Amino acid sequence: MTRKRILSGMRPTGRLHLGNYVGALENWIRLQNEYDSFHMVADWHMLTTDLEHTARIAENSRQVVMDWLAAGLDPVRSPLFVQSHVKEHAELNLIFGMLVTVPRLQRNPTVKEQARDLGLEESMVFGHLGYPVLQAADILIYKADAVPVGEDQVPHVEITREIARRFNALYGTVFPEPEALLTRFARLPGLEGKKMSKSLDNSIYLSDTAADLESKLRQAYTDPQKIRVSDPGHPEGCVVMAYHRKFHPQDADTVEAECRGGRLGCVAHKKSLTAALNAFLDPFREKRARYEADPGLVDDILADGDRRAREAAQATMAEVREAMHMG
Ligand code: TRP
Repeated sequence: MTRKRILSGMRPTGRLHLGNYVGALENWIRLQNEYDSFHMVADWHMLTTDLEHTARIAENSRQVVMDWLAAGLDPVRSPLFVQSHVKEHAELNLIFGMLVTVPRLQRNPTVKEQARDLGLEESMVFGHLGYPVLQAADILIYKADAVPVGEDQVPHVEITREIARRFNALYGTVFPEPEALLTRFARLPGLEGKKMSKSLDNSIYLSDTAADLESKLRQAYTDPQKIRVSDPGHPEGCVVMAYHRKFHPQDADTVEAECRGGRLGCVAHKKSLTAALNAFLDPFREKRARYEADPGLVDDILADGDRRAREAAQATMAEVREAMHMG
């Protein structure tokens, strides 16, 4: 029985935070048991929004890969590779660019949102509009049956499906129509209560030291109405409680009742959560330290991943060229 395949991808923004973990990585780690998986660092996709800092991308990619490995992605089972090292993605991107209309891409809600937020209405580059086309090439070049993504990426998977259908109708069936595997967990709040995000400077990183963690949690947002221990707490908007629920669910109900009942203060709660999060992060930190101490390990893992990805991509491109009687 052949297993279904997934392609997962992440843009290399640097060290990963707990939001990246619960929103993506945790899901990937679970899925590698059920699926034949490819894990990709989407470095070309960084160009759409960060054209000025290309010199940082390689180092940020390494940081992401070290976090993947430390968190439990298994490079023997599932290749870890870098998008720009598999040039075939660019060839398929060119072909797919012919199979989707400009108005279709302009309707893409993700691009519309970015255009609004970044003020790009009049200055969006061709490659940014084509972001989902390259993403479709990433996915379909591995003939992935499924793609683990968050809600915001569902429109891109839909465009991927449309491109696959269009290609298959024109040239014969080469591609599956991949489905989105939605991440189950809701967004993790950052330390001040907004969405955890690198750019908001409100993140706890997987690679934070115990000292970093302690000082960050000390400043974390809790119920402002709870001043004394005996004040009844309102844990709904409390980020300490949100982290507790996610990373130490065993006693979350009890702790919540104690907070509401005025039997647990925020300082004590932060202390116990620090200990629980340290217990969660320690094995991760130990594993990461091994990769940091021996950069050759990561080089070898990526070289192997690139090779295996390239092999699969080349096989698909041979089929594509044959189906199109071109190239
Ligand atoms: N667009 C994705 C994101 O920002 C990253 C990505 C690029 C991706 N190519 C992909 C995700 C292919 C899944 C499959 O999160």
